[in-house]
Amino acid sequence: MVVEGPLPGGHLGFGDDWREYSLKDITADVQRFFGDATLDIPVIPAGGIFTGTDAVEFLRAGAGAVQVATRFAVSREAGLPAKVKQHYFQANEEDVVVSSVSPTGYPLRMLVTSPCLNSNVKPQCEPFGYALNAQGKCAYLDAYEATGVGKNGRKLVVRDKVCLCYHFSKKNCYTCGHYVYRLKDTTNRLADGSFQIPYAEHIFKDYQLSPDHQIALPAEDFLLLASSER
Ligand SMILES: Cc1cc2nc3c(=O)[nH]c(=O)nc-3n(C[C@H](O)[C@H](O)[C@H](O)COP(=O)(O)O)c2cc1C
Repeated sequence: MVVEGPLPGGHLGFGDDWREYSLKDITADVQRFFGDATLDIPVIPAGGIFTGTDAVEFLRAGAGAVQVATRFAVSREAGLPAKVKQHYFQANEEDVVVSSVSPTGYPLRMLVTSPCLNSNVKPQCEPFGYALNAQGKCAYLDAYEATGVGKNGRKLVVRDKVCLCYHFSKKNCYTCGHYVYRLKDTTNRLADGSFQIPYAEHIFKDYQLSPDHQIALPAEDFLLLASSER
């Protein structure tokens, strides 16, 4: 069972009180519950496990594995456009927002630079059927229809709920874990100020092999390759 704490990318299984929880406590609670019930189910913590040492601490405390995402989201193999990966590397802590724009009602963590936060598109899912609530209403559509039109005749930015299927499909929602602002410490800065895109293999080995919360930077031959291929 994957147990997500308060710090992962994307939707949080908490309310606005997410800061009051810790992944370590929740993981221990779930492990205790399974132990008491004599259920042999591996527990896999996720959210904010940024270094190999973070991972080892959970494994030593009995986790069956760990789940990580943000470090790999900027890998060469990840499907995000190169421009978006650079947004992740450049982010500072104050650029990470936990927003209420998701019609699911769950808080959603992303970068403040996400284009979906400044969009006025109409929900696009009509051919698939809208996600209606028990009253037959759709939060995406309601928010769109409640948004006015500016002096130039253009629809204003929709502030309340945004059409996430559309924006995810267009890669307009820069979902990221809380520690996205530490990514700049995991790679090399190139001469033009951008960041070297590491291979997933490098990140995986760093998780496996780097001790004492250290993070190994990608090797220089990767650096040359990255800059010539960009
Ligand atoms: C770019 C990105 C996209 C994600 N998309 C999903 C998703 O579609 N569904 C989901 O359950 N979790 C999603 N997650 C959460 C991850 O599966 C993972 O549990 C979490 O981000 C781990 O924390 P970390 O990013 O701090 O390593 C996403 C995370 C990131 C960074």
